[in-house]
Amino acid sequence: MTDTKKSATLSFDGKSFELPIYSPTAGPDVLDIRKLYAQAGVFTYDPGFTSTASCDSTITYIDGIKGELLHRGYPIDQLAGKSHYLEVCYLLLYGNLPSAAELEEFEDRVTRHTMLHEQMMYLFRGFRRDAHPMAIITGAVGAMSAFYHDSLDITDPWQREVASVRMIAKMPTIVSMAYKYTLGQPFVYPRNDLDYASNFLRMCFAVPAEEYEVNPILSRAMDRIFTLHADHEQNASTSTVRLASSSGANPFACIAAGVACLWGPSHGGANQACLEMLKEIGTVDRIPEFIARAKDKDDPFRLMGFGHRVYKNTDPRATVLKQSADEVLELLGVENNPILQVAKELEKQAISDPYFAEKKLFPNVDFYSGIILEAMGFPTSMFTPIFALSRTVGWISQWKEMIADPQNKIGRPRQLYLGETTRDYVDIEDR
Ligand code: SDX
Repeated sequence: MTDTKKSATLSFDGKSFELPIYSPTAGPDVLDIRKLYAQAGVFTYDPGFTSTASCDSTITYIDGIKGELLHRGYPIDQLAGKSHYLEVCYLLLYGNLPSAAELEEFEDRVTRHTMLHEQMMYLFRGFRRDAHPMAIITGAVGAMSAFYHDSLDITDPWQREVASVRMIAKMPTIVSMAYKYTLGQPFVYPRNDLDYASNFLRMCFAVPAEEYEVNPILSRAMDRIFTLHADHEQNASTSTVRLASSSGANPFACIAAGVACLWGPSHGGANQACLEMLKEIGTVDRIPEFIARAKDKDDPFRLMGFGHRVYKNTDPRATVLKQSADEVLELLGVENNPILQVAKELEKQAISDPYFAEKKLFPNVDFYSGIILEAMGFPTSMFTPIFALSRTVGWISQWKEMIADPQNKIGRPRQLYLGETTRDYVDIEDR
């Protein structure tokens, strides 16, 4: 924690309290309210944590006004353009870009952990074939606690390291198996001679009846989607992982909690919800009707893939993904796909509409990722699983940072209680 130079004075009921102020390396100052309840007997109130720093971290920084996203100080557009997902994983996990030897050793470690315990197949086979892949993945990730007993002890740095590499290495295998299972197709084992993104595409799209050649442009686009979704400060699912970890739960159980939270349509489920919305709109001439609904305060409908809690100008990931979308659509010759035509026209009309401008609503990462994944042949039900695969390194990095923090303690928020005060039980015959 940075040393305290400034403080804020809180005065009420004739009393005053000094709250230390800490200055970060980037972003707003923070008021330390940890002793507030003990000293002043009051709680702060911040549902949704819009004004609350839940921890200190050195991993990712977002400037919502500038539209800036840094991973260990490196801007996301530079990482997306010059790096690749496993190198970004190394950066997020260990804090610096690796040397060539360090990267080779790390990639080799990940490669050797991509296979899943063979018994886990029986877990997959217990699901209905029409289960949502996220339901299967939530179960499979949590079930890893039942198979990898030599990496559950969070007090052992070596076991934390093994659990981290296993999680990153096995997510593509779990996600592709969930996909194959819903298709009724046989599982495809990982291959050690393929890079991370190519391995995932092959495990999803290969069938035993023929050879599968990975298209390098598609694997590059896949790798870029992984990189752009890798980590994002204390978003809802990362905060869920941190809160679950604060009780001392094992890493696989905590990551399963993050997967479950990401599933929601306001968070990682937005890319699926966005494509379903585009399909509901159906044709360009119906766009004004949906924009009107999004603006109608009495209508709960929102434009999925638009808006963000932190970014209030542009989502830098969306800017990069938009370039990838154009490349993939052109490569696949689907730039005339009606759904993608609706997406392009919706974007144009929405961002020029005063309502969206004044509320600072613009396409976010989920708007373009859904378009690319649709063009690559993934069903909408696979969009959030791919987001979960990408975000696993962020969850694990934040988990490692938190477990190693000596200040780490169980998270236990309080509340503003508005319920009944004490009253006596009334026997049923007297009610
Ligand atoms: C992700 O946190 C992260 O970092 C998340 C994420 C990550 O990488 O982890 O970036 C990934 O979750 C991206 C966001 C994906 N979600 C969606 O695309 C779903 C649609 N977006 C909205 O649900 C909404 O924009 C949120 C949830 C993303 C953000 O909501 P906020 O910032 O809490 O803002 P709000 O809900 O208070 O809305 C502010 C105003 C409201 O109008 P008023 O009540 O002030 O009149 O903007 C309106 C809202 O009605 N509004 C929208 C809108 N989003 C907000 N109106 C129409 N369409 C929308 N999409």
